[in-house]
Amino acid sequence: MIPGGVDVHTHLEFPLGEAETCDTFESGTRSAAFGGTTTIVDFALQQRGETPKQALDRRLAVAQPKASVDYGFHLILTDVTPDALAELPDLINQEGISSFKMFMAYPGVLMVDDAGIFKAMRKAGAHGGMINVHAENGSVIQVLIEEALAQGNTSPKFHALTRPRIMEAEASHRAIRLAELAEVPVYLVHLSAKEALDTVVEARDRGIPAFAETCPHYLFLTIDEYDRPDFEPAKFVMTPPLREHDCQQALWRGLKFDDLQIVSTDHCPFCFNENPYGIHRSKQLGRDNFERIPNGAPGVEFRLSLLFDGGVGTGRISLNRFVQLTATAPAKMFGLFPRKGAIAVGSDADLVLFDPLKTHTLSASTHHSNADYTLYEGRRVTGKVEKVFLRGELIVDGDVWLGRAGNGQFQRRSASGRI
Ligand code: URP
Ligand code: ZN
Ligand code: ZN
Repeated sequence: MIPGGVDVHTHLEFPLGEAETCDTFESGTRSAAFGGTTTIVDFALQQRGETPKQALDRRLAVAQPKASVDYGFHLILTDVTPDALAELPDLINQEGISSFKMFMAYPGVLMVDDAGIFKAMRKAGAHGGMINVHAENGSVIQVLIEEALAQGNTSPKFHALTRPRIMEAEASHRAIRLAELAEVPVYLVHLSAKEALDTVVEARDRGIPAFAETCPHYLFLTIDEYDRPDFEPAKFVMTPPLREHDCQQALWRGLKFDDLQIVSTDHCPFCFNENPYGIHRSKQLGRDNFERIPNGAPGVEFRLSLLFDGGVGTGRISLNRFVQLTATAPAKMFGLFPRKGAIAVGSDADLVLFDPLKTHTLSASTHHSNADYTLYEGRRVTGKVEKVFLRGELIVDGDVWLGRAGNGQFQRRSASGRI
């Protein structure tokens, strides 16, 4: 019996440029539950001209009737106006939104310049909040993308080739230094490159509250996936892209020695095929131009099985570390502990009965996401979620779904980054 998983990086019903993810709060939270995750922290996206509070209200209205596991939100700040900044203290201390994601990538869509990031960091830091950063140098990457397209290099592999590891490292270093000056804890999301991890280690060695997560796809897959035939590599187009084998080794080491504190999924699902959810929820948007392939991949359902099999099963991490990475540390980092992330008197009875000996095959034909593919099709793993309880109620019993849309509760989180 282990604590229900806490996945602090999902994108359900999420607009990304011209695309939108294919899992609703209903399908995505059901998929999470079958994978042993009983709490997610998703994102509320501030559109330009909107205040953060308006973005939160909009997002709550979408999630509340559909979510079947508990959920919270990080707020993505895209428009750092004085009015937006003025709302942060209340969001952190009244509304339970204690972390804010900022993008150093996706110019013209989500990217905020260093001045905006620094202002938000200072404000959040002064009121008990944390800043999550998507750390890639978006401006330089845009130059590389435009060069590649001008040379006729339109295939999915160029997504990876135009997002170099050292541009993730550069942005990671910049984010940490900005946070250091602003005196705010900083959390690097979806860290993939060894060189980016090096910057986190360097900062942590100096006592800076810098934290980072990685995701299963960076632990189990490599850049070689982009050599698959035809348009199939588009399935693996996520940001940052898959990296070389030496990064995998560094990430596993980081998990072992607590240079990385959390494994979350960055579940950002798009279908491979256009039907049944439409071109805007499909990788086919970018068939002729890798820049238009929606960035992201499904994964919320397989986090526990993959990490148990590839981590505990191989002896890379202990069983306790597995629980810490998937439940306890994310709950502590993001103000959900001890309600979540622990089996203890007074904690919510979010429980997973996990069979460490059962072998099964990961497949899109049996997963519960709306996505029509998985990154791990056919992979055999040992370790399977058998039963899942949410606040004491049995919601998954083997293959049987007992959960209910609307039964998930919004979690007002306390201060973040005080792990
Ligand atoms: O490819 C990804 N990761 N898509 C989701 C958006 C983000 O950057 O987290
Ligand atoms: Zn991101
Ligand atoms: Zn993401």
